[in-house]
Amino acid sequence: MSEIEAHESKLYSDFAPLYDKVFGKIFSSRLRQVIRSLDIPRGAKVLEVGAGTGTSFPAYPPHCEVTGIDLAPDMLARAQGKILENGWTHLKVLEMDALQLKFPDDSFDYVMAFHVVTVVPDPVRMIEEAKRVCRPGGKIVIVNHFTSDFPLLGFLTEILDPVTRRLGWRTNLRLRPFIEATELKVEKAYKLSKLSLYTVLVGCNQQNGHRGA
Ligand SMILES: C[S@@+](CC[C@H](N)C(=O)[O-])C[C@H]1O[C@@H](n2cnc3c(N)ncnc32)[C@H](O)[C@@H]1O
Repeated sequence: MSEIEAHESKLYSDFAPLYDKVFGKIFSSRLRQVIRSLDIPRGAKVLEVGAGTGTSFPAYPPHCEVTGIDLAPDMLARAQGKILENGWTHLKVLEMDALQLKFPDDSFDYVMAFHVVTVVPDPVRMIEEAKRVCRPGGKIVIVNHFTSDFPLLGFLTEILDPVTRRLGWRTNLRLRPFIEATELKVEKAYKLSKLSLYTVLVGCNQQNGHRGA
């Protein structure tokens, strides 16, 4: 029997109208803190993969140029609505697969992935693509939950994985193996509060590190 792929869940299209009501405020305030802390410089080109309904969008400074991509048109329609409503000329959205980005190498200064590495079917492939389109020395910024290293908590979240996978995300991704598999050069890894389930990773895209021989 084939494994259920997280992104195949209809959650992100059928329940797009509910997404902002359920997650909007919490995700927005978390992402505002993260994006502000990056101090994105004027003219920077930013890609956000799996941008969904654009919960992060209000946080981007208008002096940078942001492209949000997502696979779910219903989520993007909401993001596009916010762009029009707010007159955000520095933001645009496109329907695209984060595992097969249609951008040339080195197109962006920042690549963001917020609450998405546990949703795509192949997180390592997603980071490979992020590295390819990010310029050498650019930043790859991830916000996500990872399986706890505390044995009991880790065990409990891992046994929930088959259930959450049906809903659209996995709970069996551990931080250290993820960093090793992606070979992300992590400059900062932190939590916004002591009890937060979410980790913020700021990686520096290594000079030609992803280009192979
Ligand atoms: C949990 S939501 C996060 C949305 C947004 N980043 C946020 O923080 O509110 C995950 C998003 O990833 C998108 N997604 C899943 N697989 C994808 C893929 N292969 N390529 C692009 N987006 C994908 C889903 O459609 C959904 O909008």
